[in-house]
Amino acid sequence: MANVVIVGTQWGDEGKGKVVDLLTDRADCVVRFQGGNNAGHTLVVQGQKYIFHLIPSGILHPGKVCMIGNGVVIDPAVLIHEIDKLNEAGNPVTPEKLVVSRYAHVIMPYHRAMDAARENRKGKTRIGTTGRGIGPCYEDKVSRNGIRIHDLFDPAVFRSKLDQVLEEKNFLLEHYFKEAPLEAGAIADEYLAYGERLAPFAGNVSERLQEADRQGKSLLFEGAQGTHLDIDHGTYPYVTSSNTVAGNACCGAGIGPVRIQKVIGIAKAYTTRVGGGPFPSEILDETGEYIRSVGGEFGATTGRPRRCGWLDTVVVKTSIRLNGLAGLVITKLDVLTGVPRLKIATGYQCGSMKLDSVPPELDALEACRPNYEELPGWEENITKVRNFSDLPENAKRYLLTIEELAGIPLYIISVGPGRDENIVLRNPFEDR
Ligand code: IMP
Repeated sequence: MANVVIVGTQWGDEGKGKVVDLLTDRADCVVRFQGGNNAGHTLVVQGQKYIFHLIPSGILHPGKVCMIGNGVVIDPAVLIHEIDKLNEAGNPVTPEKLVVSRYAHVIMPYHRAMDAARENRKGKTRIGTTGRGIGPCYEDKVSRNGIRIHDLFDPAVFRSKLDQVLEEKNFLLEHYFKEAPLEAGAIADEYLAYGERLAPFAGNVSERLQEADRQGKSLLFEGAQGTHLDIDHGTYPYVTSSNTVAGNACCGAGIGPVRIQKVIGIAKAYTTRVGGGPFPSEILDETGEYIRSVGGEFGATTGRPRRCGWLDTVVVKTSIRLNGLAGLVITKLDVLTGVPRLKIATGYQCGSMKLDSVPPELDALEACRPNYEELPGWEENITKVRNFSDLPENAKRYLLTIEELAGIPLYIISVGPGRDENIVLRNPFEDR
């Protein structure tokens, strides 16, 4: 038995949801530890497409417990909607299957309003947030003005916290952002009703994890977004507002670092990014368009077109360092079928300097030009391939080049969106 963390190695949307769903077979509990409904994890199971924003991607497996840790910011309306949709689709979400941390912070209407107002005011320098109120909610957490899930269960406490915080928010909304103020009574009615719906699911995730771990169960921690969107280590300020790196699985779920045995990074066979910020290997010609359309590279949360680029091993190697990755899962390899020449970024030329990791300063990164290794592509459909040896020679060469440049082994290659469309080389729960 092992406890494994899954993180994205790029700027999110690497296909983590599918990999978590696949690995849930070997896990007993699946845990989200950061982010909120800015994430959109897409799964295709028996031809049916599911998109989860908050509920861990393991929810479709009977007998597994899904948990939402204290480090996640929760929009209760979105969580309830996901529970209802799953119930309607014949996958009942019971308190035995889903545990929501009492200590997770709640995304409030003023968080969404501030997110939108701030982006509008920034104009050209906007971050391109998902507009879900994620950043403002984390701000309130850190400034100790947050409302947590357990506050929704006590009307008096909730109302007094809300009144206090809303005074400041309304002042900013009205006088700084020139937006309409929000009304406390309506918010209280709405959110206390959410509290009633969510109360049966609320629990102490940290204690539940300790109990499961002691019983020898396997825990799978599901990261959201990607390493380069990390608030500390990403391309700041074009980042999200949480730590997306594996170390935060401990803080965001309430488990000690020595209880985690392995961290696996997910990398798309190319790179994508949504929103603003530097992207050295971005492809701005028709090949980028081709990858976007074949790969369906439109945000699962906002529907925005994703920017597409070549696989960048500088980005991936920086993630290996920041997360202590044991191995990589390569997703969406099938999307590259038919691209005649493939490029992999192997290093950056930054003025007179050669760099092999992503520089933290925005200006420096913006000035970087990737050096590429070029490889021939393949034409064959690979979606039915289940053994590495059956791949076209050029696809093998592409993967072996990635493995060599990354310096860590490949664990799984995803060759299509379906649950079974994978080449499994190693299982992170088995090789210790
Ligand atoms: P926020 O997380 O909504 O504050 O957005 C901050 C930045 O992170 C924006 O560039 C978003 O596009 C990006 N972002 C947030 N969540 C995701 C995700 O799940 N996938 C990809 N990009 C994301």
